[in-house]
Formats: sequence, structure tokens, C-alpha cells
Amino acid sequence: MTTVQKIPTPAVELVSLIKSYGRGAAQVQVLDRLGMTVHRGEFVAIMGPSGSGKTSLLNLMGGLDRPDSGQVRIDGQALDGMSDAELADWRARSVGFVFQFYNLIPVLSALDNVALPLTLSCPGAAERQARASAALELVGLSHRLNHRPQMMSGGEQQRVAIARAIVAGPGLLLCDEPTGDLDRRSGEQVLALLRMLQQRSGTTIIMVTHDAHAAESADRIVRVDKGALASDGFSSGGIVRAAEAHHA
Ligand SMILES: Nc1ncnc2c1ncn2[C@@H]1O[C@H](COP(=O)(O)OP(=O)(O)O)[C@@H](O)[C@H]1O
Ligand SMILES: [Mg+2]
Repeated sequence: MTTVQKIPTPAVELVSLIKSYGRGAAQVQVLDRLGMTVHRGEFVAIMGPSGSGKTSLLNLMGGLDRPDSGQVRIDGQALDGMSDAELADWRARSVGFVFQFYNLIPVLSALDNVALPLTLSCPGAAERQARASAALELVGLSHRLNHRPQMMSGGEQQRVAIARAIVAGPGLLLCDEPTGDLDRRSGEQVLALLRMLQQRSGTTIIMVTHDAHAAESADRIVRVDKGALASDGFSSGGIVRAAEAHHA
């Protein structure tokens, strides 16, 4: 009997990242030769004390900022070789961002908020609305299409934000404390939704969280401290799922 070993494909490769903010005496080094690899379809939680560089790290992975040195490769492509315009174009197609405070546009309906990222890539308004509507259905909000953010609960707003993050079909979803502003029940719904996206679409998910319970939704937990990797290993749920996958 032969065993076929699935070779995991790297989705995110970070090589010796160094990042500082400020100049001279005011300079703060935020990332200190940080390196890690995340495989395609993995769900990774990043934990660490406040100020340890988690948000800075997500910004570099998503091409929102550039490192002082070191390399970010996404699906084998080095981001440092791209111009700012190429990077913006790549971002719009390849990465979705989810923030703690949703960052929805207050004057737009849920449908228009979700359709917004398609403005440049998808010329037809009807097509944009159809895709936005499908994304909202996926997050369980087809009954809220015409609601504005202030007419929705925090949990619903975060699900709209997730629909907006996935509407262009990115392979990578970067979430910065996505349950940080939510009660336990809404937080659970958001985590279940992220797991569903991982399983259904094979999306690679990287989620910064302070909450050890939320981190258990991920397969793997990476801890950063003072801008460097402090630990990296399976979550308890991740161990169980890895064993199940092995025996499947
Ligand atoms: N744009 C910036 N300019 C100056 N300092 C910054 C900037 N962004 C972050 N920092 C500093 O870098 C450190 C790490 O920040 P951050 O990545 O936001 O940490 P975390 O998300 O882990 O709390 C903090 O000390 C923060 O004040
Ligand atoms: Mg942060």
C-alpha cells in the first residue's frame, strides 16, 4: 500500500522581517527578524501582549506597509518586487481584511458596503450587487441587505465586514481582533463563520486575538513577544483535526 503524502503549499512566507517606526531617539523597533510560514488553507491565531507587533505584522502580510528589511512572499510571490500601484491591485484581488471595529461606511446599506470593493474590478453594477448579495447570504444576512450599519448589532456588522472582505474571492483573510468588540455569542458566530470559510473555500485565515478561547478556533497558535516569535504550535482543536485528517 502506498501512502500519498499531501505536501502543504506555503500561502504566507515571512523571512526575517525587521520593521521600525519613527526616527532617531524616537525610533521603536516593532518587528525583530520575525520569520514564519503559513500553509494554504490553514487557520492560524496570533497572540501576544499589546504592543508586541501583531497589527504591524498583519499590515506587512497584507501589503498595507513594507518592512525595513526581510521578505514577505504570498503564494510564492515576493511583495517587495511590486510597485505601490501593483501592490494595491494585488491587495484588491488577493487579501481580505477584517478589523475589530468593523470599519463599515455608515451611510451605505449592508449591500453597498459589501459591493464597494468590487468597484474597480467589476464594471457592471448588477453583477456587483449580485456578488455582494451572495456574500451576505453566505454570512447569514440575506435579510439585512438594505440595513445601514447603525441598524445592526455588532455581530451583524462584523458579519457584513466579513462579507466585504471575501466578496472579491481572496485566498487570504487577515483578521485583527475580529471578536474583540463582541459578546461571547456573537463572537462564537464570527468564529464559526471563519471556520466555515476555511473549510468551504480553503481560505487561509490569520487572526490576531487576545482571547485564548477564540484562538482555540484556529488550528495553530503563534505567539509573538517584542516583535519576535515566542512559540508556535497546534491548538488543542487543531491536534484533534490533524489526527482526524490523518485517519481519514
Ligand atoms: N504607524 C506607527 N507609527 C509609530 N509607531 C507605531 C506605528 N504603528 C505601531 N507603532 C508602535 O509599534 C508598536 C507595535 O504596535 P502594533 O503592531 O500595533 O502592536 P499590537 O497590535 O501587538 O498591539 C507599538 O509600540 C506601537 O505604538
Ligand atoms: Mg493591534
